[in-house]
Amino acid sequence: MTIQNNIAGKLIPIGAAHIISQCAIIAAEHQLNTLLSDQPISIREIAKKLNFTVEGTWKFIRVLDALELVTLKENLITASELTPHLDYFLGIHITDGYAAIEQLEATLKGKESSWQAHYGKTFYEYLNSYPEKSQIFTDWCRKTANAWLTAVFPMYDFSPYSTIVDMAGGNGELLSMILTNHPKAHGILFELPAIIEQAKEQWVESEFTQRLSYCSGDFFIHAPTEGDLYIISRALLNWNDTDAIQIINQCYKNMSKGSKLLIIDFVLPEKSHASYFNFVLSDINLYGTMLGSNRTKQEWMGLLQKTQFHSNFVYNSNEESMSTLPICLLEATKL
Ligand SMILES: C[S@@+](CC[C@H](N)C(=O)[O-])C[C@H]1O[C@@H](n2cnc3c(N)ncnc32)[C@H](O)[C@@H]1O
Repeated sequence: MTIQNNIAGKLIPIGAAHIISQCAIIAAEHQLNTLLSDQPISIREIAKKLNFTVEGTWKFIRVLDALELVTLKENLITASELTPHLDYFLGIHITDGYAAIEQLEATLKGKESSWQAHYGKTFYEYLNSYPEKSQIFTDWCRKTANAWLTAVFPMYDFSPYSTIVDMAGGNGELLSMILTNHPKAHGILFELPAIIEQAKEQWVESEFTQRLSYCSGDFFIHAPTEGDLYIISRALLNWNDTDAIQIINQCYKNMSKGSKLLIIDFVLPEKSHASYFNFVLSDINLYGTMLGSNRTKQEWMGLLQKTQFHSNFVYNSNEESMSTLPICLLEATKL
């Protein structure tokens, strides 16, 4: 059978996706973003710095250049617009996830998550056993919160609320942006105990430190009672529907009447959206890693309907523009 060139052209990158990931991880681990931050550097110089052979460096840099992760002209390498973002590749769910995803087939057959099958622990139990890996994951959340969650501000008015609880709020990056924009608001960061300890150190000298308090616990069992707005940002995507409903109902139980819940999460866009492919990949990765999901707008609404909340409002950023990051905001009131 002869394979047409256009078919081969599509099949080869699919079969070689693991090589792409491995090259990007090597580039990130060797901090190419820092090495290329000042000036162009030759293949020979970079081979020396990386302790690679010159021949291997050529091959490696040519791949990175083809991916636009660096720019190679003649013998000189410079940073591309993607190079400064390389350190995102060091997210623990990406690097350690590389080995775990080998178990994907078993997960697709309805067995445990690939992470559990490979490491013998759930993703968050694994992080809890390795503080240095937990720190890398929290850092990844902080960087991406800063890069992506600013998109929430034009979509939602936080000004009516006096006490804002951020459930599973990571290191508090989103809460810090809200407290900076709303100088009268108080924030409560709710997280697992180890993450709360990291967060406390981070914000001790911030201008809003007097307006930020901390509460540690497990969101399946606890939630603070004082808030008039409860946020769950990018946390329900880590859980299946049964678990997500339990987390939402735990908030409901602890909220007073009239308080609001705001879910901020990704929404799986339509096939025509520019980010569709990225989001289906991220969806199956979430499923393999922790049986989680990138839900569609209908799935989000269906999920809320199965909770104790009644009224709700949904904002879906990709209905406004097909090129923006697809973020869904769901607001529900405890009546
Ligand atoms: C993907 S991160 C999102 C962090 C933050 N909300 C954001 O948008 O950047 C999910 C967070 O859920 C927290 N988490 C996981 N299991 C939890 C539990 N049982 N109780 C409380 N928080 C939990 C993790 O520590 C992690 O910070």
